[in-house]
Amino acid sequence: MKKNISWLIILLLVLSAVCCQCPKSDVERSVDRKWWKEAVVYQIYPRSFKDTDGDGVGDLKGIIEKLDYIKSLGIDVIWLNPIYSSPNDDNGYDISDYRNIMAEFGTMEDFDSLLAGMHDRGIKLVMDLVVNHSSDEHEWFRQSRSSRDNPYRDYYHWWSAEKGKPNYRWSFFDENSDAWRYDSTTNAYYLHYFSRKQPDLNWENPQVRQEVYAIMKFWLDKGIDGFRMDAFQFIAKDTTFPAFPEGFEKQVIKYYGMGPHIHDYLKEMHDSVLSKYDVLTVSEGAGSTFEDAHNLVDADRKELSMAYHFEGMDIWNNPENKDLLEFKKVYTRWDSAFADKGWLSIFLANHDVPRMVSKFGNDSPEFRAVSSKMLTTFILTMRGTSYYYNGDEIGMTNIGFDSIGDYRDVAALNEYQRLQRQGGNLDSLVERLKFISRDNCRTPFQWDTTANAGFTTGTPWIQVNPNYKTVNVAVEEGDPNSCLSYFRKMVKLRKESPVLVYGRYEIIDPENKQVYAYSRTLNDEKLLVVLNFSQDTVDFQLPEGMKAEEEISCNLETGGEFINGQITLKPYQASVYRLD
Ligand code: GLC
Repeated sequence: MKKNISWLIILLLVLSAVCCQCPKSDVERSVDRKWWKEAVVYQIYPRSFKDTDGDGVGDLKGIIEKLDYIKSLGIDVIWLNPIYSSPNDDNGYDISDYRNIMAEFGTMEDFDSLLAGMHDRGIKLVMDLVVNHSSDEHEWFRQSRSSRDNPYRDYYHWWSAEKGKPNYRWSFFDENSDAWRYDSTTNAYYLHYFSRKQPDLNWENPQVRQEVYAIMKFWLDKGIDGFRMDAFQFIAKDTTFPAFPEGFEKQVIKYYGMGPHIHDYLKEMHDSVLSKYDVLTVSEGAGSTFEDAHNLVDADRKELSMAYHFEGMDIWNNPENKDLLEFKKVYTRWDSAFADKGWLSIFLANHDVPRMVSKFGNDSPEFRAVSSKMLTTFILTMRGTSYYYNGDEIGMTNIGFDSIGDYRDVAALNEYQRLQRQGGNLDSLVERLKFISRDNCRTPFQWDTTANAGFTTGTPWIQVNPNYKTVNVAVEEGDPNSCLSYFRKMVKLRKESPVLVYGRYEIIDPENKQVYAYSRTLNDEKLLVVLNFSQDTVDFQLPEGMKAEEEISCNLETGGEFINGQITLKPYQASVYRLD
């Protein structure tokens, strides 16, 4: 008996020694792995992606047709801009039925096939959830505005006119910049932070929140994999609507963002919905401080997966003033603030900003491709979940319309109207729009050299960029040095390199005005990323003691070797090296 027990003890000791050694890799031991941290998210703007019925507007069947192309990119997740029923005042960000598909985009059957097609290919789907506001054509709002005692009245923010005009609220899209709109039916004002056709929902009403959770469950039960939560930092409001100091609109996020009970609502949403699914959740905007952002996403708070901050988008909006030091500071500060806790998104474009290569790179014919690849390298080598906007993989550029008649965006058109009424300088507005307008990144996707870049057989809802004959998928597919081939290569590198996802980030030579260099370190692995953000040939020196070994990727044929810690970088060169 005694002998048996000794054998048993020996066996247990051997087993525990073996178990301790094998199951966990270095990566698993050192980081909190999650699929949504490792994902490369590809954002599709459905209206401009691919039209299959010739009405000039992209549709779900178009995305289905292109699923093999999307799969070939190597991405893991698609974020789809809103596809729900909408009168399209703001291209689908004004929803009139949250459980239906926009007629121009197709049917629920198309949606089901699209989702199945994605899942068959191992691609996940993140949908836009637009619930700070609905459309004024949503049944809730029709009811709400019809009488003061309608059961839906409190689904929105109303201010009875007998109380006088409510305190001023600035509106992002309103022609008068006024977020209060008088409605004579009930002699009251309603609140709309965006356009008049986008009344803000009243999250302080528990019934509204239950409606939203039911909508979320509806889509999650269909099998979608997460939500990008539109304008979410604005949902909670102080319904006494106190006066804000003059000029508050210059700090609108501070005054509108992260309202009184936002975390209570998020916890409630987590308990009632999110905790039951394994999903990616990302709120558009992250408040105005790091603390705000952490409060949204730190894992122990059980609210959202990751923060999507706008500081990177808020710089370089004047093409004459591109200060790389500012760019480096923004991304370094955010990385440091999230080095130990929380998780970030990394992106350089989306449907609300200019094309990445026009803004952060150089879209002249000489440097378009190389600078676009350099920016791709940045997105795919930084810490945080990579978000990549459709069309950037082929280096699409700003269209820069000269005439207001070519613009389609409600924000641009309403700003123009307002300025016209005030007798402002319309030429200078159009000059500014040419660079920053949201329409720049909404022009049709460039598939090939046929009419309308192969996007539609009809008349496109917005003009196609005339450079489509040279910038398109068909041409780039056949070219191993194209932006497209490079994007695929870099996605593959990221997927094979946990160090690029999780590794510690350290900036090198922070005061260098042309080169952005950083290292990424995870356990024994250490990589060096060197990005020449300028059109000059630049000498770059590594700090003493740092030794770059083999080059593992470059946006040129070769980037060359470091000799005694020094290298000469070509314009817009982007190289990744292994560090000793
Ligand atoms: C978000 C969307 C933008 C939209 C606005 C109002 O910022 O990204 O496209 O216009 O919200 O919904």
